[in-house]
Amino acid sequence: MSLELWDAVDRYTAGLLVGEDEVLEQALAASNEAGLPAIAVSPNQGKLLHLLARIHGASRILELGTLGGFSTIWMARALPPEGRLVTLELNPAYAAVAERSIELAGLSELVQIRIGPAGESLRALLQEGTERFDLVFIDADKQSTPEYFELVLELCRPGGLILVDNVVRDGAVVDPATADAGAQGMRRFLELAAAEPRVTATTIQTVGSKGYDGFVLALLEP
Ligand code: DHB
Ligand code: MG
Repeated sequence: MSLELWDAVDRYTAGLLVGEDEVLEQALAASNEAGLPAIAVSPNQGKLLHLLARIHGASRILELGTLGGFSTIWMARALPPEGRLVTLELNPAYAAVAERSIELAGLSELVQIRIGPAGESLRALLQEGTERFDLVFIDADKQSTPEYFELVLELCRPGGLILVDNVVRDGAVVDPATADAGAQGMRRFLELAAAEPRVTATTIQTVGSKGYDGFVLALLEP
């Protein structure tokens, strides 16, 4: 088993079930041209986010870590016409790339990009008394995931869904002495989630074009 094979299977299955999409391909091309890191979710994972949002009937979605807007577009396409997606991005240059791609996707009316440290944006959303979210996708700097998770608990509605990307990190998550600060962040996040009575959750390990990683799917108890 190898990355080459995982990638081939990802391409084969996405070729059949996800298909080609000019808007999303443009979003990836724009990200590459602007020098953004190539760490967006894969097409199969983007489709999973889209399907989960639809299955859940989400009309308010919060994303931490916009990057070039690839996952943003996938999730925003799951929204009803009166829906809303708020996406948080630290880097103004990344946000500018995402904004253009979201516009080309015809989704600008549904999507708000907030620029700045995600912790600050989350606290601002709380202070504004923003309506709670049905689905939250946490995919920003990995070491801050525990802090983000605690804030997101206050912003997500009871019965809401919280997805956390990059929990496994090539298996580094099982090593208490790992030098990977992101994996340390994920260990602290997993311990927090385990101790949180409001949440019931599971971890899915994944292989594919992005290698070996995984995500947590957590339901805030109704
Ligand atoms: C990295 C970040 C991600 O969100 C991801 O899905 C993969 C890699 C990274 O920072 O290396
Ligand atoms: Mg990620």
